[in-house]
Amino acid sequence: MEYLITLALYCFILNIVQISEQFNENLEFKSSLVEEDAIGGFVTVLDNILNNLARNTSKPDSNYCLPFVLNIDGIHEFTINVRPFGYCSYCCPIGNPSNHVNLYFTNKEKGGTFTNLKTIKKSGLYKSAGFRKDLLTIIYIHGFTEAGKNFGGRRILEAYLSRAEDYNIILVDWKNLSAFPWYNHAARNTKIVGNTVANILEFYNKTGEIDLSKVHLIGFSLGAQVTGFIGKRFKGKHKIPRITALDPAFPLFPLEDLSQRLSKFDANFVDVIHTNGGMFGFPISVGHADFYPNGGGILQPGCRLSNLIETRLAQTTVVCSHYLAYEFYAESVRNPKAFPAVKCGSISKGHFKNCRFVVGGYMGFPANKSSLGNFYLTTNDRAPFSRSMKEQRFKANIID
Ligand SMILES: *[C@@H]1O[C@H](CO)[C@@H](O)[C@H](O)[C@H]1NC(C)=O
Ligand SMILES: *[C@@H]1O[C@H](CO)[C@@H](O)[C@H](O)[C@H]1NC(C)=O
Ligand SMILES: *[C@@H]1O[C@H](CO)[C@@H](O)[C@H](O)[C@H]1NC(C)=O
Ligand SMILES: *[C@@H]1O[C@H](CO)[C@@H](O)[C@H](O)[C@H]1NC(C)=O
Repeated sequence: MEYLITLALYCFILNIVQISEQFNENLEFKSSLVEEDAIGGFVTVLDNILNNLARNTSKPDSNYCLPFVLNIDGIHEFTINVRPFGYCSYCCPIGNPSNHVNLYFTNKEKGGTFTNLKTIKKSGLYKSAGFRKDLLTIIYIHGFTEAGKNFGGRRILEAYLSRAEDYNIILVDWKNLSAFPWYNHAARNTKIVGNTVANILEFYNKTGEIDLSKVHLIGFSLGAQVTGFIGKRFKGKHKIPRITALDPAFPLFPLEDLSQRLSKFDANFVDVIHTNGGMFGFPISVGHADFYPNGGGILQPGCRLSNLIETRLAQTTVVCSHYLAYEFYAESVRNPKAFPAVKCGSISKGHFKNCRFVVGGYMGFPANKSSLGNFYLTTNDRAPFSRSMKEQRFKANIID
């Protein structure tokens, strides 16, 4: 079984590399991708194969339900499960979803060491853990195959800890429910994880320990869809002030039905960074401010197979462009003016070239309600990714 999963992993990677290189050569961003949703189709086919394999293997024993962690490149950890947690005959039963969601809390004083608050509801728990109601609370939610304290979460966390002001920081861990290769189960689980986190926020707001008007949800990929489901639970005066969606997941999420995916109605301000639109990421604008670095499409600079071999990151090729979303955001937390962007009416590649090249807003950390719409910018192909407006004018193929 392990062998089969590894095999599936390689097929998955090979296919996606091929698809992404092809798309980049031949297809205009957006229109054809939305219609085809090639990755969505591919995920469904892969899912059918996996489901058949799982059905035909012996009865699930409880050990099968424990995920294991594979570190493929020394940096990124993948959580793999032999069977999915979900609702099917061969699934590991989820039972109470709260048992699969852990909330790791830290702040400056704790210096990045964590208290696992789990999903315990006990009046006074947050206060005694060091949670401060007067501070902004950053809640980060990881994506498919990741875990709470994984690379993306740490990137964001370290960036916030490097700032002068203090924050309550919570990394949400839902790895049991988002394990490889069960994407379609993970996608379905985003809603129950969203509800689980919303219940906790509601509870500790009632105990007077969390001020909902100081909550900033940040989600990557499937985690961005989780933030949407958290946000949908709060309305009126309790509405969440801000959601930052880092390349929100696209496969198996609907374009039209806003009740089933992240949308701008889920918070007072929703800002989005698109780095892999049409593949893993959503190809259309879903927030109040949508940023399209380097066009936001399938392949980001520095993510071609040849670049990756050169930088020895070949293993992450399949998700390189997707992962850049949290790299960009983390850089903007450390350097808020890192990503000046030009405001454009339309997100299609051709239109960006005709945009008047003036600073219309900043991507990432400083994004705010004063500047809404679709934004375009270019970046360097490796860290630091920041390009000043002057460098953009010079390097980008854009009419001023
Ligand atoms: C699983 O079992 C069914 C029914 O016995 C069979 O039709 C199917 O081909 C099997 N699938 C695989 C992948 O072995
Ligand atoms: C994952 O699921 C197992 C089996 O149900 C459970 O014992 C464990 O606590 C879960 N782990 C996490 C991190 O939620
Ligand atoms: C709950 O959050 C709201 C903002 O949505 C805040 O005004 C209120 O003070 C919080 N409640 C308590 C008891 O702290
Ligand atoms: C809000 O956005 C505007 C325009 O991008 C920017 O000039 C300003 O600094 C931002 N405000 C904050 C508080 O970050």
